[in-house]
Amino acid sequence: MSAGNVQVELGERVKAVRRRTLELCAGLTAEDMMVQSCPEASPAKWHLAHTAWFFDSFVLREFLPGYRAFNADFYWLFNSYYESFARFPEKRLRSSFSRPGLEEVVRYREHVDEALGRLLEQGAEPEALRRIELGLNHEEQHQELLLTDILNAFFTNPLRPVYCEGGALYSPLSDARPGVAGMASKGRDFVEFAGGMREMGHRGEGFCFDNELPRHRVWLEPFALAGRLVTCGEFAEFMADGGYRRAELWLSAGWDTVKSRGWRAPLYWTETDGSWSVFTLRGEMPMRGLAAAPVSHVSFYEADAYARWAGHRLATEFEWEAAAEGLKTDGNLLDSGRLMPCAAPDAGECAAQQLLGDCWEWTASAYLGYPGFKALPGTLGEYNGKFMSGQMVLRGGSCVTPAAHIRASYRNFFPPETRWQFSGIRLARQD
Ligand SMILES: [Fe+2]
Repeated sequence: MSAGNVQVELGERVKAVRRRTLELCAGLTAEDMMVQSCPEASPAKWHLAHTAWFFDSFVLREFLPGYRAFNADFYWLFNSYYESFARFPEKRLRSSFSRPGLEEVVRYREHVDEALGRLLEQGAEPEALRRIELGLNHEEQHQELLLTDILNAFFTNPLRPVYCEGGALYSPLSDARPGVAGMASKGRDFVEFAGGMREMGHRGEGFCFDNELPRHRVWLEPFALAGRLVTCGEFAEFMADGGYRRAELWLSAGWDTVKSRGWRAPLYWTETDGSWSVFTLRGEMPMRGLAAAPVSHVSFYEADAYARWAGHRLATEFEWEAAAEGLKTDGNLLDSGRLMPCAAPDAGECAAQQLLGDCWEWTASAYLGYPGFKALPGTLGEYNGKFMSGQMVLRGGSCVTPAAHIRASYRNFFPPETRWQFSGIRLARQD
C-alpha cells in the first residue's frame, strides 16, 4: 500500500472510532455522564475528554507543526496515570469535574479531530502514524470501559435505568432469547488439545500492544477446555451448595475478600423474595431466563473457587491462546449490539465456543512480561508495563469489546478481586 493510501485509510479509521465513542453516549444525559459509582470507574464525560487528551498529548503536540492547544490545563487535568508526562488529579475526583462542561468537552474532541485530519492530510511521519494507531486502540479500550462504567452507574441508581433505550448500537435479541437453547442446555463437553512446543504472542504485521511481545516458545502439556463458558444456572448451583460459605473452596486472599466484602453472589445479581435477577445494559432481567447465559461480573477469586468446586481448574493464558489462535472475531462482541453475554450457539461438539466475545475469561496466569519484554520507549512505556504486579490475565474480549480490538494474543489484566468488568469463567482440565 502506498504511503498516501495508508494515511487515507488511517484517517477513515480515526473518523469511525471517534464517531463510535460519541454514539455510545447517544442515550445518556449530561447527568448520567458525570457519575463515578465505583473506584474502578470513570464518568463517561471523562472518557470523552481523556481519549481526546491522548491524541492531543502524544500526537498533535509533538507532530503537528503550529498546533495550538485547546486548553493547556487539559494536559494535566485529563492525564490518567502517566507520571513522566504531567501531574494528574486523584482518580476518585473525576466526578467532580463539572467544569469543563459537556459542550466544552465535545468542542475539545472536535478540535482534536480537526487537527488529526490536518496532520494526516499533510502526511504524518511513521512515528506519528504509529501513535495514532495506538490512540485508536486506546480509544477502543475506553469505549469498553465507558459501557462497563455506565452499567455500574445505572446499577447504583435506584431507578435501575436501561442503557439500551436510545443507544445507537443496540440491536434486538432477535436470534434467540439471551439464556435459552443452544449448546449451553446440553452437558458441559470438554474439547481436547494436544500438548507440545507452541509459539505464543502476537505474530504478523497488524497492531498489537507491547505486552503481546516478544513471540516466544511455551511448552504445553495436553489439556482440555470446556466447550463453552460457565452459565448462570451452573453458578447458581455453586451458590446453592454453599459455595460462598465454604472456606475450603477459596484461595486465602479470596476467602478474606468474600468475608470483608460480604459477597454471596456475582456483582449485579439481586435477590428479591427468594428469586434472583441480574442487572444488564438491557435492564433488570429475571434469572429464570438467563440460566444458560454465561455468568459474568465475577472476580478471579470466584472463578477459581467455582473451578475448584467443579473439580476442574482455570486455563493458563497460553492454553487459552493455543485454543484461540486463528479464530475469526465474529463472536458476541460490541458490534453484535447484544450488549450482554448470551448462551453459546449450538455449533457442534468439536470446537470450543465463546472464546472471543461474551465474557473476558479469567486465566490462572499472573500478568507478567514475556521473556525479553520491552515497554514502549518514553512516557508511553507506562501504558502496560508498570502494571505487571499483583494482577491476573484475562483473555478473549466481551460483549462490549469492539470486534476490531480483540485478537488471540490480546492480554487484558486486572487485580484478582475485580468484578465490574464483563469477566466470566471457562473450565480447563488435564487429560
Ligand atoms: Fe486511558
